[in-house]
Amino acid sequence: MDKKLLDSVYDASTFKNHGDQLVQLLAHHLNNASRGSSKTIDWNLPEDELAFWNSFLETGKMDDFFPEILKRTTHVHNPKYVGHQVAVPAPITALTGLIASMLNNGMAVYEMGMSPTAMERIVCDLLGQNIGYSENSRGILTSGGTLANLTALLAARKAKVESNVWNNGHTGPLAIMVSEEAHYCVDRAAKIMGLGDAGIIKVPVTEDFTMDVSQLETRYQQAIANGVQVFAIVGSAPSTATGIYDNLVAIGQFAGKHNLWFHVDGAHGGAAIFSKKYKHLLQGIEHSDSVVIDGHKMLMMPTITTALIFKEGQHSHTTFSQKADYLLTDTDEEDWYNGGKRTFECTKSMMSLHWYILLKMYGEEVFDQNVTQLYDLAEAFAQLIQNDLHFELAIQPMSNILCFRYVDENLNLEELNQLNQTIRQILLEDGEYYLVQTKLRGIHYLRTTLMNPFTTMEHLGQLIHKIKQEAHKLLTNNPS
Ligand SMILES: Cc1ncc(COP(=O)(O)O)c(C=O)c1O
Repeated sequence: MDKKLLDSVYDASTFKNHGDQLVQLLAHHLNNASRGSSKTIDWNLPEDELAFWNSFLETGKMDDFFPEILKRTTHVHNPKYVGHQVAVPAPITALTGLIASMLNNGMAVYEMGMSPTAMERIVCDLLGQNIGYSENSRGILTSGGTLANLTALLAARKAKVESNVWNNGHTGPLAIMVSEEAHYCVDRAAKIMGLGDAGIIKVPVTEDFTMDVSQLETRYQQAIANGVQVFAIVGSAPSTATGIYDNLVAIGQFAGKHNLWFHVDGAHGGAAIFSKKYKHLLQGIEHSDSVVIDGHKMLMMPTITTALIFKEGQHSHTTFSQKADYLLTDTDEEDWYNGGKRTFECTKSMMSLHWYILLKMYGEEVFDQNVTQLYDLAEAFAQLIQNDLHFELAIQPMSNILCFRYVDENLNLEELNQLNQTIRQILLEDGEYYLVQTKLRGIHYLRTTLMNPFTTMEHLGQLIHKIKQEAHKLLTNNPS
């Protein structure tokens, strides 16, 4: 067989040429985007985007491929990016991504990823220490907070439910407790586990969007009276829409009283364990049984990498074991290095490289600086909004997530909702800034997550000014 095509695919000098060009292009992009002088997003209709890439497949030039991707994506390195909870990756992690893709060790067994497996152990041990766990703690890295929360709840069920659900299926109704403001993936995890609607006890939130812990006992007793076994409770650190942290001390005490598994969904703000100034928000996390922290949110890493850390390492080993008992006998050595037994995935990427390189090059201090900078900025932005009569905050922020809206006393709720929605669409199509939106208790808010450590109050002041200008145009029907 003539394998010229395959030869060209694997040609090292072609790789080098493309690689050199791409690194130059990305370095240029980084410089450009971080100045904030270009658009954050050049928004297109989905159908137009589809048509473009269909036509590119036929007639596009290879030289244009990478530049077109740059043009047609959202630029998180632009300080005017204040949208979703996605990290602004430290550029070095683009290079760990590159080597991971090239070497492509599949990580399911030790031999297929020796270095990244050792690094994963080091990273997880360090996270366990920062959470406040003992040396019994173990963890895994996995593909996202969604999967990590599901994995934690599977471990919880294994640890707390006496019947062997893994092998025999459910024999009675089971439930978890979680705030009604928790990320939807917790709900989804419970559904995947077959708990059904009755198996997700949604605890209402207070006026301040934090779990109303005064309701825990009543809700729990109601479930017990209905013959439901509650086996876990999840605290949000923080919840997604508003960025408000649950009271982990109170939740931990409640979990202890009823022998429930206490899981902390810190996908977004668990990273505050590294912030000297803000780690108090996580007080009580040390009493949890498991914690999820995303690297690709507040820890400057590319998608997708999440740490799931267990207080007691054995739970990391039993989650997916086919037998009810612990995998190892007392005399066995713990095979922490065979990751495939402990993660949902079989094959997974060499994601520990991102964590390790940041620790090696910059130390834990870099995580402290990033989280502290972003949370401080949100506080200052909240002040700015509060001092402006044209705006209203949904709630004083506890993290870098901040919801606010334009207000006008002459408009009713419906009109204000429409106005804020229209403003957000105008900003999206304009593309200078990128922010998102959310609805809380029937009120439409603009939502910013301050992810870029180079966003300044000047950028945010200009954003506020721009929103006011757009609102004025809409209200006076003056398009100029
Ligand atoms: C609190 C919380 N939990 C879980 C998730 C899901 O994480 P991932 O997107 O990594 O699957 C998110 C995502 O925004 C989140 O904010």
